[in-house]
Amino acid sequence: MSQAVTQPPPAIAPAEAPLLEVNNIEVVYNDVILVLRGLSLAVPRGQIVALLGANGAGKSTTLKAISGLLKSEDGAVTRGEIRFDGQRLNGVEAHDIVRRGIFQVMEGRRIIGDMTCLENLRLGAFTRSDGAAIRRDIEMVYGYFPRLKERTGLAGYLSGGEQQMLAIGRALMARPKLILMDEPSMGLSPLLVKEVFGIIRQLNRDLGITILLVEQNARMALSVASHGYVMEQGKVVLDGSAAALAENEDVKEFYLGGHGAERKSFRNLKSYKRRKRWL
Ligand SMILES: Nc1ncnc2c1ncn2[C@@H]1O[C@H](COP(=O)(O)OP(=O)(O)O)[C@@H](O)[C@H]1O
Ligand SMILES: [Mg+2]
Repeated sequence: MSQAVTQPPPAIAPAEAPLLEVNNIEVVYNDVILVLRGLSLAVPRGQIVALLGANGAGKSTTLKAISGLLKSEDGAVTRGEIRFDGQRLNGVEAHDIVRRGIFQVMEGRRIIGDMTCLENLRLGAFTRSDGAAIRRDIEMVYGYFPRLKERTGLAGYLSGGEQQMLAIGRALMARPKLILMDEPSMGLSPLLVKEVFGIIRQLNRDLGITILLVEQNARMALSVASHGYVMEQGKVVLDGSAAALAENEDVKEFYLGGHGAERKSFRNLKSYKRRKRWL
């Protein structure tokens, strides 16, 4: 009797799936307020991806949908899928999402003002019980942010820049694979912004941490990112390599031009251009 020989399939290396994939998600607050309307994005492993957009576009909501923090604001992902490291994140509790390797550094820093720096850092390690490694990681954080070691008082008395560093340090204590960073440059002097972005780049290069970076400071964000997304009214309206976005005329006009409150809607510009072509 002849035996069928089953050959193993040829070893074709699969193209590596992104570490984070957000597929066509819809987010609703308080059961009625539709804020994200079919948002999709991908963050490849080991890269820094920038998420840009005007105030109110839905950037923070996107990060909270990924980290699971939406629930504490009565928000919910009502459609679509979020996948991280091959697993579905929809419905997973926020503390479990931290355990799986995602840590969000919230907008406005949100350190605990009436605790010391050290206590704040230890909080970041809430999912861990490896005491010796935690102590080593605290020293590693001090290596990145030496000023935090010198400040022994309450974190509430730290400068804005130091609080931002503490917030990033606290994220590192969770040993995340992916950090979601919400407007780290907000309220900082240009010099400190440079310093914080230098550290972001270092964390990515030295520790291999993947970063999804939300920023109003598009120029800074695109200078450290490999890829960027521009969102407006709960959707991605443009994406591309960071270099291409930095050269894109519309991005230049609306996000790099510094027109602030005067800048118009990116979509309005598109329809204006379309109309213009027909005139
Ligand atoms: N907890 C909430 N409840 C209801 N609406 C919210 C809540 N958080 C944000 N929004 C609304 O969702 C929209 C997007 O907000 P947000 O994600 O904070 O935008 P961005 O971070 O881009 O400035 C805004 O219109 C905002 O008013
Ligand atoms: Mg925001």
